Amino acid sequence: MNNVLKVAVIGGDGTGPEVVAEGIKVLREISKLENINFEPTPFDIGGDRYLKTGVIISDQEIEELGKYQSILLGAVGHPDVKPGILEQGLLLKLRFAFDQYINLRPVKLFPGVETPLANKKPEDLDFVVVRENTEDMYVGTGGWMKKGTPDEVATQVALYTRKGCERCIRWAFEYTRKRNNPKGKMLTLVAKTNVLTYGHDLWWRTFQEVGADYPDVKMDYNHVDACCMWMVKNPEYYDVIVTTNMFGDIITDLAGILQGGMGVAAGGNINPEEGGTSMFEPMGGSAPKYTGLGVINPIATISAAAMLLDQAGFEKAAQRIMKSIQIVTGTKMKSQAAGKMGYSTAQVGDLVCENL
Ligand code: IPM
Ligand code: MN
Repeated sequence: MNNVLKVAVIGGDGTGPEVVAEGIKVLREISKLENINFEPTPFDIGGDRYLKTGVIISDQEIEELGKYQSILLGAVGHPDVKPGILEQGLLLKLRFAFDQYINLRPVKLFPGVETPLANKKPEDLDFVVVRENTEDMYVGTGGWMKKGTPDEVATQVALYTRKGCERCIRWAFEYTRKRNNPKGKMLTLVAKTNVLTYGHDLWWRTFQEVGADYPDVKMDYNHVDACCMWMVKNPEYYDVIVTTNMFGDIITDLAGILQGGMGVAAGGNINPEEGGTSMFEPMGGSAPKYTGLGVINPIATISAAAMLLDQAGFEKAAQRIMKSIQIVTGTKMKSQAAGKMGYSTAQVGDLVCENL
């Protein structure tokens, strides 16, 4: 492994640039401590530029971004741009362009962080969701007939391929093995095989076939509705969950609020192949009303930066950041909510640097 870390940085909209600045600050600091040659390159992409130029992202920018192994993305969503335009044209565009077929969402309750679940402690909430990230209803296949009439018909196809679910399921088994949970390695497939009898049958059969290669990993299955129930009642049950794109989107918002909400939840859009470009982001969104106030929580972005390091092969550096985050949430911050942290956005970044 060489020790160069080139990162394309897209601050994006709203509070995105503010939280990304703290992610970069922590990456700079850990790079000094771990002798990493960290080279961030900013890209001016987002709602403001779209409003000025009409371009969300150009082919040339996609080509340029594709030269990077890692992208750090702040937030997508501008109050003056109709919802959906930037989400589709930027976030989903990049996920698809770079074939980032894994959406990795660690769900961990950090010390000192409030969960809406009564009587659950950090050791009870520590699992990972592996969400397929390139198929399902997200492919945009479908259409209208007789649009705008009382007889209108709309279709939105949930498309699944054998290759698509197999590569995701195999990655999830590998991940579960590597995570090596001391309570026992278990991979739970979350789907709806009792109703989606074609698409999720494909997932089910593929899960069984791939699982045969991983005798050390316990194979488990939940229907998605039951999973939502268990996640609230017994989150300590889970180790790793693998699921489809649409269900993964929904259950990771539920999981996100259990771990303390938008200020702490981070995710990675990963292309694990050699030379693949992966993208890491806080789940919080652009929070326009807090823009420029220095009150937004950067912890999720700093966690995303740690995930970025881990994916780029700097595991020890990633672990040091995760440790420092937990010192800061556990002993310093008053709350994870914007404006109630007891510190400014930049001060939280400083605290994480000091505790590395
Ligand atoms: C997420 C988001 C996106 C998704 C939106 C913004 C398109 O909700 O990353 O979970 O649905 O995947
Ligand atoms: Mn979502």
